[in-house]
Amino acid sequence: MPTPSSKRFEVLGTDLTDRYRNNPYVKSTVHIIALQITLTILTVAVFGWGLQYSQTQIVSSISEHIAQAMQGGTTSSISLGESITDVQSQTIGYVFAVLILLTILFGFLAARFALRPARDSLRFQKRFIGNVAHEIRTPLAVIKTSTEVALMNPGVSRDMRETLTQTIKELDRISETINNLLSFDNLIRPGRIKSQPVDLGILVREAAAKHQALAHSRGITLSVRILDTEYCILGNEVALDQVLTNLIKNAINYTPEHKNGSVSVSLEEDYQGRIIVLIEDTGIGIAQKDLYHIFEPFFRAETSRNRGIGGGTSGLGLAIVNEIVRLHRGSITVRSVVGRGTTIELCFPRIGSESQKKPGNSDSNDGVEEVEMNLG
Ligand SMILES: Nc1ncnc2c1ncn2[C@@H]1O[C@H](COP(=O)(O)OP(=O)(O)OP(=O)(O)O)[C@@H](O)[C@H]1O
Ligand SMILES: [Mg+2]
Repeated sequence: MPTPSSKRFEVLGTDLTDRYRNNPYVKSTVHIIALQITLTILTVAVFGWGLQYSQTQIVSSISEHIAQAMQGGTTSSISLGESITDVQSQTIGYVFAVLILLTILFGFLAARFALRPARDSLRFQKRFIGNVAHEIRTPLAVIKTSTEVALMNPGVSRDMRETLTQTIKELDRISETINNLLSFDNLIRPGRIKSQPVDLGILVREAAAKHQALAHSRGITLSVRILDTEYCILGNEVALDQVLTNLIKNAINYTPEHKNGSVSVSLEEDYQGRIIVLIEDTGIGIAQKDLYHIFEPFFRAETSRNRGIGGGTSGLGLAIVNEIVRLHRGSITVRSVVGRGTTIELCFPRIGSESQKKPGNSDSNDGVEEVEMNLG
């Protein structure tokens, strides 16, 4: 019959096993501890081997010297003391080399185990966001249609009409956020993105034209500088349009209204044949500490939050831009001076270049997070 203390141990054992199975943090802690114990055992074993090896070598040198002395023959060119020192330094060299290799290997394994829960939870978070967005989209469309139908009724009072119009505006705003969330979800499954040759010149002109009205309403000059030539890359037209739309919209929205602000979009080819898109604004800028976070989902910089600019935005635009550019094997550089403006530089490999053979299947981060700062 089990004693109360053995029962307690059994319960504790089951509890620990459950935690190990279900909690990724406990699991990786256990793995890291096991790695450290293994490393300690291996270190002791390597030292033990080193000691044994040097002892054997020393004993054999001594016996060699004694044998030579007894035979009265010529003694070795190096003294006994020197050969012992040689053996010792050789052993220390071996031991250190093995220990350095072990430390690097175990460090690498420990980092993998430690980062696994964070990687898994990020994947789960993105998937969760996508699922929730899917669930919300349909009822939202139903509410919007019902509100529009209600608005069509001539018997609706003026107050009620205003309320309903406001409701539709808010529903549109939520829809935009939901669409952003869905794009974000789609982007983590790059298989869904189809590529074809795209002329960025045409896309840039169209994207700028779509935003002229918004720029005009905010008293901002929106200009485009493109040479009359083709700027072809291999990519997805819809996704690239989303990149340009998000960046131009940001440049306009984060530039103060009616203060002679300007936004310019230009396209050029650099000396390596890569295609560069520049989106420059004379807006509020981004503080240095925020520059490293602006590509994170749901992040909104302090400069815009403090000024109440971009209220009601979701903070997803640049996260989407980041994913799309990464899938096109491009890179993004941000330069910003608080109070003076921001320049976003996109760089894409030209069509046919080695680095753009298979867009959409890359897991690498290809410098997308590269951030350059210039704070005045
Ligand atoms: N051109 C810019 N000038 C100043 N700040 C900017 C600029 N572009 C982005 N930001 C800052 O980076 C943050 C993240 O931008 P992002 O486009 O991801 O989100 P958002 O504009 O807040 O929301 P949305 O999802 O509607 O685009 C913004 O909230 C803003 O603080
Ligand atoms: Mg934005």
